[in-house]
Amino acid sequence: MDNEFLILGGTCLTHGEEGPGTWSKAAVSLSNAFISRIGPEAAPADTSHATVFDAGGLLVLPGIVDIHGDAFERQIQPRPETVFPHDIALADTDRQLAANGITTACHGVTYSWEGGLRGREAALQLMEQVEAQRAFAHADHRIHLRFECHHIDGLQDALAWISEGRVDIVAFNEHLPAIARKCARPEKLAAYAERARCDSATFRQRLQDAQAGSEHVERVIATIATACRERGIPMASHDDETESDRERFQELGAFISEFPRTQDALFRAMALDNSTIMGAPNVLLGGSHCGGLAAIDAVRSRMCDILASDYYYPSLLHAPFKLAFHGACSLAEAWQLVSENPAAALRLSDRGRIADGARADLILVEQRPEGKVRLIATIAAGKLAYCAEPERLVMRQAHRLAA
Ligand SMILES: [Fe+2]
Repeated sequence: MDNEFLILGGTCLTHGEEGPGTWSKAAVSLSNAFISRIGPEAAPADTSHATVFDAGGLLVLPGIVDIHGDAFERQIQPRPETVFPHDIALADTDRQLAANGITTACHGVTYSWEGGLRGREAALQLMEQVEAQRAFAHADHRIHLRFECHHIDGLQDALAWISEGRVDIVAFNEHLPAIARKCARPEKLAAYAERARCDSATFRQRLQDAQAGSEHVERVIATIATACRERGIPMASHDDETESDRERFQELGAFISEFPRTQDALFRAMALDNSTIMGAPNVLLGGSHCGGLAAIDAVRSRMCDILASDYYYPSLLHAPFKLAFHGACSLAEAWQLVSENPAAALRLSDRGRIADGARADLILVEQRPEGKVRLIATIAAGKLAYCAEPERLVMRQAHRLAA
């Protein structure tokens, strides 16, 4: 009976078969890495064998599933000219995830013709470090491969990583036209070159080489999509602009529209019954920072299924409370956007909800006035990953003495 955990006194969002979960006062028992019992408030007889968490006055929610986050890049390369070891950076990222209630994190690893932070070495280092720290990390770290469609030379690597089981979701990204436009300005070119860890002339050459490979882009996309379908790996298209963008990727089996940029693309995704991802920072900021759609409006009109941390981890915890406060949806519905729905899109049937037998990924929060929230504790795979109020814990030994 190792790692028994009992959460008492909280208001728990438990899984509903259809629609959002329901709130109830319930005791939640965790056994090893799984939820073993959700029951009425009365303490089970074997409390003495458990670590008890007093959740009085708190909400008990499923741990957050982040389908796309790349804030880890700031731990690796906090300044354009400074690069730190991946083991130090990813350990810090893991602590940030726990302190923001994120129990499953898909790291957006861009594999691009640009090179540098978005090149082969950087991608390999990140994947290797994610694999190396699996045994001791708090969150479940996974790889969201952001494949730049003009990276023709990257095809074989992508296929190898997919077949080796190193990739959990693939998103087709197409940033080349925008980068080419921006690079008309020397200061922008210099900034891209710095991220790519090369000089401006070298970056311009890489851009031209990538443009020269345009005729191969469709073949590369189709080949990667086939590999993903064969392995059951979910796929997304990124920044859909038009209805036909969405249709084109839907036909390839990419059923997720990540950050659709227009109403047309969003409506088409909805009509096709696809999942749509929008940024949780967009909710917190009250709109897109780059001229896109407002996520809060999309949620209000039931056109957004999933929120992603994108570039800011705290946003996933706070966005649902803000959505509920502004009446865009209920809190139970908002919480689906950061737990159950992303888990389903990732085809992870063992998490995203509080239910018997599910992975013991839970967070305990204090709901504050005005749509605010404070994280009190994160439990990831049955282990306490973060705790702001340790006095709420009654350790096994102490409890036995008191009993
Ligand atoms: Fe983008």
